[in-house]
Amino acid sequence: MEIFISSNPDALAQYAVDGIEELLAAKPEAVIGFATGSSPMAVYDEMAARYEAGRIDFSKAKGFQLDEYVGLPAGHEQTYLRFIHENMADRVNFVPGTVRAPDGTCEDLAAGAAAYEAAIEQAGGVDFQILGIGSNGHIAFNEPGGSLASATRVEALTEQTRQDNARFFDGDITRVPTHCVTQGLGTIMRARRIILLAQGEGKAEAIAHLVEGSVSARWPATILQHHPRVTLLLDEAAASKLELRDHYRWAWENRG
Ligand code: F6R
Repeated sequence: MEIFISSNPDALAQYAVDGIEELLAAKPEAVIGFATGSSPMAVYDEMAARYEAGRIDFSKAKGFQLDEYVGLPAGHEQTYLRFIHENMADRVNFVPGTVRAPDGTCEDLAAGAAAYEAAIEQAGGVDFQILGIGSNGHIAFNEPGGSLASATRVEALTEQTRQDNARFFDGDITRVPTHCVTQGLGTIMRARRIILLAQGEGKAEAIAHLVEGSVSARWPATILQHHPRVTLLLDEAAASKLELRDHYRWAWENRG
């Protein structure tokens, strides 16, 4: 695992988008996995800036989102599909329809989830996955206690996650859906490269478990310890509970 700790959010975002730019230059039809929420926003701003500067072209690429709420009507302002279009896809030149999200509205959610998993596979798998992390250690919406090998499926959200996300629903937890469709940990682990972004003290405990804890379903992100190509992009507060953070800083500065 590579760990880049910086108090400069632009440097972290630029590192992530350098990776996407290099990937698309080598493989224009690459598949990119997207997270919603606040953590990747600087990355999406940087992607839009580079597109406008003519440096990056998404016209042949495809995108798959990690997750979607169940029960919000299509087009609702808090659906993750709408979020990703407003904050990323519509700001660059993805062909309409090529950035997809799991379907949280279909009658047979399990069949919809299986079809989404199959679509990722048919597209050739995810080349570059962008992740955030929940304060309870979830990645996508894989909450504590789930299988470390799970596929895309319906998942119940924890009260903690609903509380954390109530800020997008006028602070009213009762309006936050109770369930979601999410890529599984097994799905995420098949991505060829993973970048995880975390900011703020609220993420520090989850980051400490991810990097230095035991692999366990209690902290789902710990499964990433088994992935060969993960980079964490952390601000100082998110890195503040890492015991060996001075070593990680040194290792980053002296990476081969
Ligand atoms: C979103 C997702 C979640 C978020 C996580 C952090 O698609 O999969 O795992 O990345 O809840 O959310 P923020 O970035 O809003 O703190």
